[in-house]
Amino acid sequence: MGNRRPLIAGNWKMHTTVVDGCRLALDLAKGWQSKEDREVLVAPPFTILSEVAHVLEGSAIMVAAQNVCWEEKGAFTGEISPTMVRDAGGRAAIVGHSERRQLFGESDALVNRRLRGALAFGLMGILCIGETLEEREQERTFAVLSQQVERGLEGVSAAEMARVVVAYEPVWAIGTGRTASKEQAQEAHAFIRGVLAKKFEKSVAEQTRILYGGSVKPTNIDELMRQPDIDGALVGGAALEAESFLRIIHFQ
Ligand code: PGA
Repeated sequence: MGNRRPLIAGNWKMHTTVVDGCRLALDLAKGWQSKEDREVLVAPPFTILSEVAHVLEGSAIMVAAQNVCWEEKGAFTGEISPTMVRDAGGRAAIVGHSERRQLFGESDALVNRRLRGALAFGLMGILCIGETLEEREQERTFAVLSQQVERGLEGVSAAEMARVVVAYEPVWAIGTGRTASKEQAQEAHAFIRGVLAKKFEKSVAEQTRILYGGSVKPTNIDELMRQPDIDGALVGGAALEAESFLRIIHFQ
């Protein structure tokens, strides 16, 4: 078994103004009884990345971007570079979230470029993967996951994998209130770890954190975290309220 430190990440999506984002960050900073055995991160919108990072300074809660470009600077209207994320106080970037893939047409190849850009400029990369309901019903879940892992991690070295986190988020569980059962999630996580072992080597697979995402709540976090291959969570809706996110990060 690897020695994986659990990571709980809050994805704020397209929510929060300066005032309510800072208030949420402040409430989290006050309520988080920093524990050595786990890491916590929030991904606010770009517009308040630097304010939130400022509020969280010294709190042991890291800040991440919800997406990132691969270039350092240049003519890329509407994009944010990895160095800009770092400059604003961010340490990580989410890439390939299913909303990016489904609503904005991001392909595995594009997601891979984003991930490699994040890694090249010193960020941690959180690569999101997950099957749709249709794919699950057609029993294509494993084929889809394996393709997303293979293509998403193309050109990423074993050494860089120390800064890669994989987030398994079944699309049918995101924002629907329909969480994957702990058995379904564990099965997918074990499968993903197997794909990583084949692509890299067993030790890399054992050290890589695989997060579960999709309707994670205070009521289901504890049993999810008890699964051997679930190393944390990527939380959407329940990360927007300090009380529920604090309960989630204090999982037992
Ligand atoms: P949810 O979102 O927790 O609201 O289902 C998870 C995510 O999209 O990362």
